[in-house]
Amino acid sequence: MADRTELRALAPPAFTHAVPALLEIYEAAMRPPTEQLPGRAAVMVSHAGYPGFASVVAVEGERPLGFAYAFHGREGQWWHDVVTQGLRDHGRSRHARRYLADPLEIAEVHVLPEAQNRGLGRSLLHALCAGRPEPTAVLSTRTGPSPARHLYRSCGFVEVLESFSFPGSPDQPFSIMAARLPLLGPGTRRPRGRSPWWPWTG
Ligand SMILES: CC(C)(COP(=O)(O)OP(=O)(O)OC[C@H]1O[C@@H](n2cnc3c(N)ncnc32)[C@H](O)[C@@H]1OP(=O)(O)O)[C@@H](O)C(=O)NCCC(=O)NCCS
Repeated sequence: MADRTELRALAPPAFTHAVPALLEIYEAAMRPPTEQLPGRAAVMVSHAGYPGFASVVAVEGERPLGFAYAFHGREGQWWHDVVTQGLRDHGRSRHARRYLADPLEIAEVHVLPEAQNRGLGRSLLHALCAGRPEPTAVLSTRTGPSPARHLYRSCGFVEVLESFSFPGSPDQPFSIMAARLPLLGPGTRRPRGRSPWWPWTG
């Protein structure tokens, strides 16, 4: 990670206070349609009230360069229920039981474009997942090759659903990815010849 950059954990009130600044990072990293930003801000504020919420911000001086947050996923939450149903609809109920029974749900990981490829994303992800009580982590990311997918795969995430469309966004396919915690560290690899389900299948 860059020398003068530090990671700070934000408790829910501090995170809520920081949402406008974090939204600027989100906007620069994801380039969403501007009209979606107020809705995104509202979702982030509401996520701060979810059980097990945790967030990490990478700051250089007082300037935030990137952030990530997650919470405990459970029944009754929109993403959790939609993805669980999606896995069942695709005949992957086993994956739902393995990965979504008691998961850490990683909601956002973003780094300003000018600060990318310096190790911040990886540091944020590891900081977020370290010491969590959940046995698994789950997330969604846009389908297709991307730095995000490369990062997640290198930390042990596997695709449990390759091309999933969320309700209301039929033209934007996402990959649903899941990992067993703790994440694989830099340079750690699963033993050759094991299936992606190695932690369970021995
Ligand atoms: C995904 C993201 C958070 C990664 O953050 P980052 O700080 O750039 O990531 P890191 O520097 O820790 O690099 C992680 C890996 O991605 C690779 N990577 C990062 N940027 C890259 C780029 N532009 N092109 C190719 N590979 C890239 C790095 O090489 C590294 O892999 P390695 O360790 O095998 O070399 C960042 O690229 C980003 O904000 N992207 C846009 C928003 C986004 O897609 N968020 C995720 C939504 S699910």
